[in-house]
Amino acid sequence: MFMEWFPEMSVGVDIIDSEHKKLISILNDLHDAIIADNVKQGLEVFFADAINYCDYHFSHEEAIFLGTDYPDKAAHIAAHQTMKKYLMESRNKFEQGQMNDFPEELMVFLKGWLVNHIQETDMKYVPYLRHPKV
Ligand SMILES: [Fe+2]
Ligand SMILES: [Fe+2]
Repeated sequence: MFMEWFPEMSVGVDIIDSEHKKLISILNDLHDAIIADNVKQGLEVFFADAINYCDYHFSHEEAIFLGTDYPDKAAHIAAHQTMKKYLMESRNKFEQGQMNDFPEELMVFLKGWLVNHIQETDMKYVPYLRHPKV
């Protein structure tokens, strides 16, 4: 396993935690494919899944916090857009044959981004969920 969800990553909202676990499992699936020497197909599946699921999860999160007084909405949405752009650009690189057989840089970057985004950025909208705007 490349990356594990750990309790310190919990934002205290079950549905969001389970979406974060799904994002981690998409990255672990890529790692499994690499170990099984199935890099090309693994990357194809990875980009399709990661782009789809990030779209889904980011939209869900934004819908949740847009209805609150959370003050960092715009910066948070911008961080999501930057990640989506990174994934699309990485997929383009892959499709143009510009990605190594072992996409370590991509994986390490995504792992770090996920941990940091969940613990530093996602965590900050959580207190506002308990005081939704009426
Ligand atoms: Fe987020
Ligand atoms: Fe998130």
